[in-house]
Amino acid sequence: MSDILKYGNSFCVLPFIHKHIDLTNKRRVCCISSDGITEERLQGIRQDMLANLPVPECKVCANTELQKTVSSRQKVTAEWFRKRPDIDYDYPPEISYDLRYSNVCNLRCQMCGPVASSTWAKFLNKQDVYQTVEPDVFEVNPEAARIYLAGGEPFMVKSFSTLLNKIENRDCEIIINTNATILTEKMLSALERFTNVCFVLSIDGTGETIERIRTLCSWDIIQKNIDVLQSRLNPTLMVNTVLQRDNIDNIPELVNWIDSRGIAKWDAEILTYPDQYHYSNYTGTINWPNALWSAQCVTKNLQANSALKQIYSNLSDQS
Ligand SMILES: C[S@@+](CC[C@H](N)C(=O)[O-])C[C@H]1O[C@@H](n2cnc3c(N)ncnc32)[C@H](O)[C@@H]1O
Ligand code: SF4
Repeated sequence: MSDILKYGNSFCVLPFIHKHIDLTNKRRVCCISSDGITEERLQGIRQDMLANLPVPECKVCANTELQKTVSSRQKVTAEWFRKRPDIDYDYPPEISYDLRYSNVCNLRCQMCGPVASSTWAKFLNKQDVYQTVEPDVFEVNPEAARIYLAGGEPFMVKSFSTLLNKIENRDCEIIINTNATILTEKMLSALERFTNVCFVLSIDGTGETIERIRTLCSWDIIQKNIDVLQSRLNPTLMVNTVLQRDNIDNIPELVNWIDSRGIAKWDAEILTYPDQYHYSNYTGTINWPNALWSAQCVTKNLQANSALKQIYSNLSDQS
């Protein structure tokens, strides 16, 4: 095992146990690989990995390891080796899913677009507004151990609740990346059977800030929906924030809100696309209080902390 995890090895658990279907309904080895694969190619990738040969579809991890930085391959492989030491990689079970096969969404967030949001596609008068797969075509293993759902908006993808109802393993980890603006009884009931539910809440600000960035959302409704999720499902909550031009001034308030909700895990990533919303286009004067740096969610989440420091340092130099 320690050899497999060394920098430069090619073996990764994901092509063996994981199914990723992206927004264009292409299968890929995982969310950071950009290449679509067929079933035949998947078998080839497995053989190459077992022989420790390089796999072009996994170049992002290979390049990360060339810099002697820990890759997703190393992290996820160590995690599954620990969690499921029983897996036979000659006859691997499909137990992990990452499904984003539908773009049905009720919002039109400024940094998103028609590939992920049908509301964006409609707004732009695209011909093919809805992208999805026939849910009946899609088989899930009733013994699945992890299911990650995104989209589109998972609460609007009807087939997701049908799919969850087929899972017999009640301890399967269910992770849902949601805008928290819309809840459906079908999805809530499907989720109630599971012991380990996590919501990744996409919160890019509080109040008017989120309402400007996440076009068509209501901050009041989002907060009420989070209350419902907590009381009905007792889930783990995480916040995902896209740091961008229009939430710089709101970061201190957002940080207070995350701490006041007792949410421990915060992913805050700097927007890279579309360029016009990059933080470098901020024209104000950054005024973050010293207290920001001692907030729980800032001290406990290294990646968010370093993204904030980068923004603060660059925007302070600019003014
Ligand atoms: C495409 S959304 C789908 C799930 C759901 N509709 C939501 O908003 O949570 C998945 C994640 O991508 C993020 N996202 C959207 N546009 C982005 C961009 N331009 N750069 C980085 N992340 C983005 C969203 O904030 C969200 O957390
Ligand atoms: S809610 Fe999610 S999918 Fe919908 S527009 Fe916003 S980021 Fe895109």
